Amino acid sequence: MCGIVGYAGQRPAVPVLIRALKDLEYRGYDSAGIALLEGEQLAITKKQGKIANLEASVGDLPDATVGIGHTRWATHGRPSDQNAHPHLSCDGRVVVIHNGIVENYAALRQRLLASGHRFASETDTETLAHLIEEELAAGRSLLNALAATARQVTGSQAIVAMSTCDPGAIVAARLGNAGGVVIGFGQGEMVVASDLAAVLPVTQEVAFLADGQLARVTADSAEARTIAGEPVALERRRIPIDPVTALKGQYPHFMLKEILEQPEAISDTIWSLATLEPPALYFDDLGAAAGRLAAVERVVLIGMGTSLHAAMLGQRYIEAFARVPAAVDNASEFRYRDPVLGPETLVVSVSQSGETVDVLEAMAVAKQAGALQITVCNTEGAQTTRVADGTVYTRAGLERGVASTKCFTTAVVALYLLALRLAQAKGPLTPEQLAGHLHELARLPGTVASVLSRRDQQRKLIRGLAAAEHALFLGRGLAFPVAMEGALKLKEISYIHGEGYAAGEMKHGPIALIEPSFPTIAVATEHALRAKMVSNIEQIQARGGPVTAVITEGDEQLTALCDAVIPVPPVSSWLEPVVAVVPLQLLAYDVAVQRGCDVDQPRNLAKTVTVE
Ligand code: F6R
Repeated sequence: MCGIVGYAGQRPAVPVLIRALKDLEYRGYDSAGIALLEGEQLAITKKQGKIANLEASVGDLPDATVGIGHTRWATHGRPSDQNAHPHLSCDGRVVVIHNGIVENYAALRQRLLASGHRFASETDTETLAHLIEEELAAGRSLLNALAATARQVTGSQAIVAMSTCDPGAIVAARLGNAGGVVIGFGQGEMVVASDLAAVLPVTQEVAFLADGQLARVTADSAEARTIAGEPVALERRRIPIDPVTALKGQYPHFMLKEILEQPEAISDTIWSLATLEPPALYFDDLGAAAGRLAAVERVVLIGMGTSLHAAMLGQRYIEAFARVPAAVDNASEFRYRDPVLGPETLVVSVSQSGETVDVLEAMAVAKQAGALQITVCNTEGAQTTRVADGTVYTRAGLERGVASTKCFTTAVVALYLLALRLAQAKGPLTPEQLAGHLHELARLPGTVASVLSRRDQQRKLIRGLAAAEHALFLGRGLAFPVAMEGALKLKEISYIHGEGYAAGEMKHGPIALIEPSFPTIAVATEHALRAKMVSNIEQIQARGGPVTAVITEGDEQLTALCDAVIPVPPVSSWLEPVVAVVPLQLLAYDVAVQRGCDVDQPRNLAKTVTVE
């Protein structure tokens, strides 16, 4: 899940590449590097650490107009200057950057060493540089050498390379689902990158490589072919995006900005899929899936991390509104368990990036089984949207904080509306019921805004939680995924061990952990099986455990019972999860800031996970 970018144009490449790497830094940030091609000269600089370290070292580079850049999330070889990309062949004529894993790299490395190649790093990527070198020596063009290399490696990868044998050109290959390759067509300049964020500052005119395709770009041309050698006509499209949302503005962190953007993001998502007057649903991007919804007999929702938590809520909505059996699964487990699927199964994948490899591989399994597929995605034109039969776009705008916030709440409302759309197709939803749901949804952005405005009232909780080593998050029913999400937010950005549990499960083991230094955060809002939660809270308190509860405002019993409460406004049962998760996002954020953590780029993580 590294970030990769290449530029060929008229401008000095270094500033373009550095800016692109900053836009890609969320994909990995343990080291970064740049290679420039000036006629037949290659120049490289690479540094361990964040882009700022690299930026401080680019002063000596030549003013080349062709170059490639990489920001790394280590898979093979620890983060270091040596292991940072780009990697050179031994003859110094080929330079490679890469995203993904060369699964057979150990065998390839052994063979290359035996035939005299010298390795300068511990990475799997370096094998690619040596393989291309061998293919060039055999008389192939750079593009053919890349194709021949691609045929020798296993695993999913995106590879970008340059060589002094082909001055002015950048070649790229996409094999499987390792984050994709997008080509940007500017005026006399071209960009090749792992994702749109790096391309859009230069151009909105783009084409995506499909699995098994390669391309060669120069400042004013792009040609593509398959690995087998068949020519490919690149399909160009214009991507609408507002680059201003990419800026942090006055906020100290993207995560805070994104938490605070939720009322607008939720509203934009709802009203891109529905109208209130008249009450109606509009799913413009469902494509071929729209006509097949009535025949759906079963739904399987898949996702990873935060998107999996949104999918858990989608499952409840679909069963409740459409009365269709629905299951939810972690995409990385689903793909390996030989799931029973058929044309009557609807697979709903949830992925804000649309590039998560586990989700893409699970979708490939579903495709092979002939299942109907809809993806809920926040990224226009992303890979999941190209695989699925139909897309439900969330309108959260670009999410830059590694911890997902607005993409969670917008995915939940999108799934809510998708469940209504399925209910409409299957028959159980009356126009009056639809109107009732839409009126509840219409109030949601205002309710979320009201929760955000109370941030100061929960500040007193920060210090206690920041000092804890562990915390238990409990919820029942629709509040269970909220508890899971609250725990994930806390652990990923503050490094406090948070555990999300179904409250009923608590007595079957976790209660052994309860003691005065072990805080519990209970989601005990009005509709979240509140009476049962009261009992669970009492059981914890009887063992000396402090409890903070998210409650519906005016709940005097829980206010008196708990050590602290976070009141939220009343809302319909179905929308309580969206309202209840917001204080947990804010709490995780404030605790992480209090602990001095790198909120937007937590250790060991990356925003888009394109390795298994
Ligand atoms: C957590 C988080 C991750 C992602 C997960 C899936 O805050 O952001 O758990 O939700 O990596 O990513 P997408 O939604 O892009 O498939």
